[in-house]
Amino acid sequence: MNAPSDSSSPILCVVGARPNFMKMAPILRALAAQEGSWPTLLVHTGQHYDADMSDRLFHDLGLPRPDVSLEVGSGTHAVQTAEVMRRFEPVIDAHHPACVVVVGDVNSTLACALVAAKKRVPVVHVEAGLRSFDREMPEEINRVLTDQVADRLYTTERGAQANLVREGIPAERVCFAGNVMIDSMRASLAKAREPAEILQAQGVSPVLLDHPRGYGVVTLHRPSNVDDRDSLRAVLRTLAEVSARLPLVFALHPRTRSNIERFEFRNLIDPARMLLLPPQGYLEMLGLMSRATVVLTDSGGLQEETTALGIPCLTLRANTERPITVEQGTNTLVGTDREATLEALAAILEGRGKRGRTPELWDGHAAPRIAADLLQWLSRERVGTRAG
Ligand code: UD1
Repeated sequence: MNAPSDSSSPILCVVGARPNFMKMAPILRALAAQEGSWPTLLVHTGQHYDADMSDRLFHDLGLPRPDVSLEVGSGTHAVQTAEVMRRFEPVIDAHHPACVVVVGDVNSTLACALVAAKKRVPVVHVEAGLRSFDREMPEEINRVLTDQVADRLYTTERGAQANLVREGIPAERVCFAGNVMIDSMRASLAKAREPAEILQAQGVSPVLLDHPRGYGVVTLHRPSNVDDRDSLRAVLRTLAEVSARLPLVFALHPRTRSNIERFEFRNLIDPARMLLLPPQGYLEMLGLMSRATVVLTDSGGLQEETTALGIPCLTLRANTERPITVEQGTNTLVGTDREATLEALAAILEGRGKRGRTPELWDGHAAPRIAADLLQWLSRERVGTRAG
């Protein structure tokens, strides 16, 4: 492996899509706070590019303006991944980074990890070892392959290490550091916006929030739920039944919005019971979630955030790569099963929802642990290379 020649080579930090931003923000802050810190360089691949999906979150999270923007935009998985790789390679050539830090499981994560690994630049993966064991999910393929080429792997839950070791990754490469997403959440909770204010600011009456049982928050974007006409119809019908019992606020991902229009499913949504909103800012989403009676979602991040907040979560997926949220947290997998969803909802509305507890090291200090370990590791690698 090409270890850095000196500590002026930057640590190159990559973000691409919405769920990356809240993971990278605390890492950048923690790296900057380390004594004798290394320079960092922030690269945004542009996988998510809308103001709603990107700029606003940068602002909410206090992320600095990217040093490098690759502006890849949307495409098929192959096109998007290839385009990130093509545009990322010259960035490595220009900056000779000490290492490349990637987070999560999006196409940009794998694309940049692959480019770095082939250039023999150390790859650092934050949120390693999560497995849904479902290769129908593009993210699962990204996870497995990114971990295979990573040199230093930071995990969010203890079970992740066993997944990695089973795949032949030496345990010495793995460090259990906790959950950086929860660092962001804890740092931002005090700034979270009030639900009624959020709706008013978007020109929507907040009357729906005054229901005696409160309200539920919905997000959906997994291809398995929203890209297929029958699946999307079934999910929307279940949500309509949920909304008859509890009003819902539905923050629509662009993919989901366009499919609802394309399949002409607007009529499945009763606007008096289910409020459709554009993708929300980070502080808005935190505000909406932290006051909700329940969150219904197929997102990975929301499963973790609800566990940390102690808010019941119904996950509209058959599996999860984050089992600790089910074992210890407030998460229940209901899949696309109407009965299971309504039953779990009834339990929550009767006060029998899961209470859960906060998993180990989801304490708001994961990023400082990662920064301290990473700098030590880089120094060791450098000494090792010189000695070798
Ligand atoms: C991606 C990630 C997923 C993550 C999700 C969060 C992969 C494989 N998937 O899925 O893990 O949970 O982001 O949002 O990397 N679009 C816009 N504006 C944008 C971005 C996307 O309108 O700023 C639309 C485009 O039409 C695009 C579609 O959304 O085709 C999907 O975007 P894409 O980044 O390909 O995947 P996501 O479904 O967002």
